[in-house]
Amino acid sequence: CIFNSHIESSMVMHFDRDEEGVCYAIDLGGMDFRVLRVEIDVGSTAVINQRVETHAIPEELMGTSQDLFNFVALTLKNFVEREDGKDAQKPLGFTFSFPVRQNSVSSGSLIRWTKGFSVGDTVGKDVSQCLDEALARCGSNMRVTALVNDTVGTLALGHYYYKDTVAAVIIGAGTNACYIERIDAIIKSQGLPTNSGGMVVNMEWGNFWSSHLPRTPYDISLDDETQNRNDQGFEKMISGIYLGEIARLVLQRMAQESDIFGDGAESLSTPFILSTPYLAAICEDDSQDLSEVRRILQEHLKIPNAPLKTRRLVVKICDIVTHRAARLAAAGIVGILKKLGRDGSASAASSSGRMREQPKETVVAIEGSLYQEYPVFKEYLDEALVEILGEEVARTVTLRVMVDGPGTGAALMAAVHSSNRQQQGGGGGGTI
Ligand code: BGC
Repeated sequence: CIFNSHIESSMVMHFDRDEEGVCYAIDLGGMDFRVLRVEIDVGSTAVINQRVETHAIPEELMGTSQDLFNFVALTLKNFVEREDGKDAQKPLGFTFSFPVRQNSVSSGSLIRWTKGFSVGDTVGKDVSQCLDEALARCGSNMRVTALVNDTVGTLALGHYYYKDTVAAVIIGAGTNACYIERIDAIIKSQGLPTNSGGMVVNMEWGNFWSSHLPRTPYDISLDDETQNRNDQGFEKMISGIYLGEIARLVLQRMAQESDIFGDGAESLSTPFILSTPYLAAICEDDSQDLSEVRRILQEHLKIPNAPLKTRRLVVKICDIVTHRAARLAAAGIVGILKKLGRDGSASAASSSGRMREQPKETVVAIEGSLYQEYPVFKEYLDEALVEILGEEVARTVTLRVMVDGPGTGAALMAAVHSSNRQQQGGGGGGTI
């Protein structure tokens, strides 16, 4: 089981589909961020309307916290004005996909940056407060109603559609998972009043480490290149920012030790030149002569004349890196199922008695570019789940893709929390 750094979200899931109205969300977790407007209706079985805009964060704004949050706040303000007018004041979900020490439903301080982010003065600060202050500076009426990790937003959306959702996993630029735990099983939360008796645990599994993980010299070299050395070891073997780079390090070594790439392999010494979308395109080239691999080698890596045999080797390496990542992610998911007694061991144990217990249906919400946009990765992950769980148990586990789960789920949580607060007379706290 893989629980090394628990950060409890103080939010307990309790959606009753009785929310209505318009809510907004900001989804910040990579070099692009999203603003969302989500409309929900009482009794509706779905979000009835949703608008999403994606914006790139200009590199020069990554210097100070104020620059970053000013930009995010201004983008939201302009979006809200276009959608609902200047004075609109709606619940706002803030999806912030970095490790946070959560203090309440709507506040939490950044523990450390991951995924190559490093805006020096944000660590230790309450990121909701940073955003609220930036919103006030630019004259917006909006304030953060709910602060959530992307896994938690995805879980919220998963739970909204499928009541059997017990966990959520993100496999995109970074990776992480969260799951619903019984409150009495969380030592530091004992005695905390909740409506549902459960609480979401944000595992931050990207930072999981164990000597059993198959760490190679390439993983060590990769770690040395990153700003967060010695952190996020599991993430660095699995997620989108890193897979292409691991393959590049292997290819670079091959170029140093043999002449398979001829003379023109200098570009292989440029860190991060082989991004994961290229790695995916290499693996998915099903042409007989591997023409797409040849094109990528020629145009992108400036390796002009790699023969078919070499191109096959390149495919093999990209495939091994993908396979390992997908299998590790599957092992992580099974770790959660095991913790929740959903891996079949409960029914196996009871099968020695007279009545064999039917395994429960389990839904795991999933989001992220690797699983959604890289079919080979998805195939390997799905295959590994069946291999580890066995066919019978695997049939009871469904991975459901939640498109825009991080942002939409955060907007829903903001709506629920804001209506809870109104019912309680405007106080803070409360459970979702
Ligand atoms: C962050 C997590 C996040 C994950 C996926 C990781 O680097 O630490 O908080 O959930 O990326 O975006």
